Amino acid sequence: MADNSENKSGSGDCGIVIRDDWPGYSLDLFTYPQHYSEDLECVYIPHGVIMDRTERLARNIMDDLGDHDIVVLCVLKGGYQFCADLVERIKTLNRNSSKTLPMSVDFIRLKSYLNDQSTEDLHIIGAENLSVLSGKNVLIVEVIVDTGKTMKTLLNHVEGFRPKMIKVAGLLVKRVPNGPGCLPDYVGFEIPNRFVVGYALDYNEYFRDLNHICVISESGKQKYKV
Ligand code: IMP
Repeated sequence: MADNSENKSGSGDCGIVIRDDWPGYSLDLFTYPQHYSEDLECVYIPHGVIMDRTERLARNIMDDLGDHDIVVLCVLKGGYQFCADLVERIKTLNRNSSKTLPMSVDFIRLKSYLNDQSTEDLHIIGAENLSVLSGKNVLIVEVIVDTGKTMKTLLNHVEGFRPKMIKVAGLLVKRVPNGPGCLPDYVGFEIPNRFVVGYALDYNEYFRDLNHICVISESGKQKYKV
């Protein structure tokens, strides 16, 4: 499926690198909601693999940040599932390891996509007053970094509240021309430049109710286009 031989780039670790020629798994090998049977091309990253990788990211975060207090800042809507699963695994480590990572959780909502295209206007919708972040160690949790514009804008916004430290966890980073402006500190997977859905990633609000990360089919794009 992937290798991690080209594992370092910039400040962050690319995580599991999924190559451009990865075809994904046939849908028939997995279960998924019947209502999406015409709308998907393949299972790109199975849910179980996402869970296993998230468990390791939680351990890396604990190793680096353990014994500090952190505020987890979940980037909605797409980040809710990854954030919940990551927090759950950090909680497990809190119960079972000698280190401890006290956490509080806050939310911010951003929107920049229409259909499968990034738009210039990025809206910060929720929790605009993040003064609780002042002087705190902040872990931003985002499900996907594509061009990196969203992350850049968000980092500028959060820096304005003068936190002590900011780290970013991103489940997916896309390989796009010129690369994203900034790489997350913790990366689950580096993926080709394809539009993916599921695991709370949407296409015009559809597919959040799908466990695996999948590639949307052309007919799916047409069906849910706005
Ligand atoms: P960026 O600003 O180009 O990095 O875009 C990041 C945002 O675009 C994410 O927070 C997602 O909301 C959305 N996005 C980018 N690529 C995808 C995708 O493949 N599937 C679903 N949403 C995506």
